[in-house]
This record gives sequence, structure tokens and C-alpha cells, in this order.
Amino acid sequence: MMLWAVVAFLMFGLLPFVYEFLQGDESMARAQPKTELGERIYRENCAACHGEKGDGNGPEAQKLKTKPRDFTSGIFKFRSTPSGSLPLDSDLMRTVTRGVRGTSMLAQLQLSEEERRSVVQYLETFSPRFKNQKPAKPVSISSRPHEGKEIIALGETLYKDAGCVSCHGPKGNGDGSSAEGLKDSWGFPIRPTDLTVKPFKSGPEPQDLYRTLSTGLDGTPMPSYFNALTPRERWSLVSYILSIATKEKPREMMGLVGEEVDGMRIDMRAAMAGMMGGRGMIGRGGGMMNRNMQERKKDMGR
Ligand code: HEC
Ligand code: HEC
Repeated sequence: MMLWAVVAFLMFGLLPFVYEFLQGDESMARAQPKTELGERIYRENCAACHGEKGDGNGPEAQKLKTKPRDFTSGIFKFRSTPSGSLPLDSDLMRTVTRGVRGTSMLAQLQLSEEERRSVVQYLETFSPRFKNQKPAKPVSISSRPHEGKEIIALGETLYKDAGCVSCHGPKGNGDGSSAEGLKDSWGFPIRPTDLTVKPFKSGPEPQDLYRTLSTGLDGTPMPSYFNALTPRERWSLVSYILSIATKEKPREMMGLVGEEVDGMRIDMRAAMAGMMGGRGMIGRGGGMMNRNMQERKKDMGR
């Protein structure tokens, strides 16, 4: 266990330098057309989980409890657009940039902004929805009312009256009467979130929770409350949730929580394969690294 931690530390302590070094060679990325770049980034960084065909069936998917998204369905959880709509590109960018906390979907910090944009363009080619439909106008996020006992109390009342209890449980622990046996749109079992424990998948800011309450999480039983509740009521629920979210998921190696550890192991395996000359998913290829190093040496010699 100790040895594992040391190896992990060494590898990930060094990786940023390796990335920086490799990204010195930007001429290559620039010379490639957008979709080709996106396809390469996808193959190297995403396919192990999301599958070469984008169907969520990558070689690592089976082992993961929270399944990687099937992009062919064109259904996304984390959107700024109303329930049932396609997400905006900026929604997908947010997910790729921040990751989904507590799952193996890690923040893709090794990718430049251009690389993230191109991989988002590429993943949209997996579903015909993006060809045939346009995303609806995003739900507006009103400014947050002043925090206080009153607003939290309103949130607590609504939490019971609006039916959150049936899924998330009387105290928010994710153990309501309808919590058992729920499935998502892809047929996998899903549980209502334990709202007393941070971090949340939606994101770290109150605005992230407000967005989720307003748009719902498509593909899951979590409904949208855009029509059922006023903005003030949705904000009061955010305040109530933040008042009960007093626990933190246990931190494991490098501060990772939950299935993030699995995500890191998968990335590490791929990085290792890449460094040893294989076609890893993060690995920018051992061959390419050697070539870079030789070129650098030549430059320095001049
Ligand atoms: C180690 C596995 C893994 C890798 C590698 C990975 N993902 Fe994911 N991804 C997941 C999982 C698991 C989810 C589902 C999270 C959830 O539903 O809570 C997900 C979800 C997503 C979503 C959907 C979010 C939503 O709103 O529904 C997008 C978009 C996404 N990933 C993009 C990417 C891209 C792009 C890459 C590569 C740059 C990538 N992922 C690499 C595991 C992975
Ligand atoms: C029919 C069941 C159901 C009802 C009713 C429901 N939820 Fe959810 N909720 C879920 C499920 C399932 C998830 C988890 C989705 C996931 O993990 O991908 C969820 C997720 C959430 C999240 C996101 C947590 C995160 O990690 O970002 C919040 C916040 C939330 N629910 C609040 C509420 C509130 C407040 C209400 C009532 C107004 C409510 N839910 C009603 C099933 C439900």
C-alpha cells in the first residue's frame, strides 16, 4: 500500500512536467484539422471509459460502479438548458474541465483549452441529436437572495412539501421510501444523492445546485423544478441543502474522493503504457516523446 502511494506520487508529481514538455511542440496540434485533433484526444484520453464508438462501453467501463456516459444517446445530466434539451458546448466544456466529483470522470487538466474544445466537438459526432437539434435557451440563474434563518426554514419546508423526501430521505441521507431500485435511462441502478455529504457532482458553487434544481439531471430520476418552484423557492432549497451538507467524503490518496481513485488508476495505467512506447490514452506516445527530446537537444546545441 505504501509502495503504491510512493509510486503514485512520483508519477503524478512528474506528469505535469512531462505534459509541459510535450506541449512545447504545439506546431503539431496546430497543423491538424479540428476533428482530427478531437478524435486523437478522444482516443488517448476518453475511449478507455467511454468506448471508441462513444457508447460508454470502453474496456474499463465494466469495473466502474458509476458508468461512463453513452454519448450515442445524446442525453446529458449537467446542463444549463431545460430538461430534455441538448446541452450547450459550454456545459460539456465545464464537465470536461472540472470533472464529475466522486466519479471516475476526472478534471481533464492535462488538456489545453483547444484540446478540450476539439474533443467536445468530436464527442458530439456520436449522437445524431447534435446534427438534428439545437440546444434550447439556457435557464437563467437569478441572483441569490440574502442568506438567513428564514430562507433556510422555507427550504426545509419545501424539501418536505415538494417531494424531495421520497427519494433523498427525511434527513437528506439519500434513503427515502422510493430510493431503492431506481434505474437511470441507460438501465443502470442509481441512488438519490446523500445531500449531507460534499463534494457534489453538480459543482462546488451554490449556483451549481441551483442549476441542477432548475434543469434536473436528464437520464436520471432527478426531476427539474423549473415549473414547480419559483426562483426564490429553488434558492431556499439550495440554502437548506448547504445547511445540511456538513460532512465531507473521506479523502484518499492525493485528496481524491470515491471513484476518483479508480479514474486516477485508469489514467495512470494509460500514462504508463504511453511512456513505455505504447499507445496509451494519456500517453502522447513514447516515440513522440523521444522525438521531442532529440529535437530539444538539437535546438539547445545550436
Ligand atoms: C476513467 C473513466 C473516464 C474517462 C477516462 C473519461 N470519462 Fe467522462 N465520464 C466518466 C463517467 C463515470 C461519467 C459519468 C458520471 C456520472 O454520470 O455521474 C462520465 C461522464 C462524462 C460526460 C457526461 C456529463 C453529463 O452531463 O452527463 C462527458 C461530457 C464526459 N464524461 C466527457 C469525457 C471526455 C471528453 C473525456 C476525455 C477527455 C472523458 N470523459 C474521460 C468516466 C470517464
Ligand atoms: C424521484 C427521485 C428524486 C426526487 C423526487 C428528487 N431527487 Fe434529487 N436526485 C435524485 C437522484 C437519483 C439523484 C442522483 C443523480 C446522479 O447521481 O447522477 C439526485 C440528485 C440531486 C442533486 C445533485 C447532487 C449532486 O451531487 O450534484 C440535488 C442537489 C438534488 N438531487 C436535490 C433534490 C431536491 C432539493 C429535491 C426536491 C425538490 C429532489 N432532489 C428530488 C432523485 C430524486
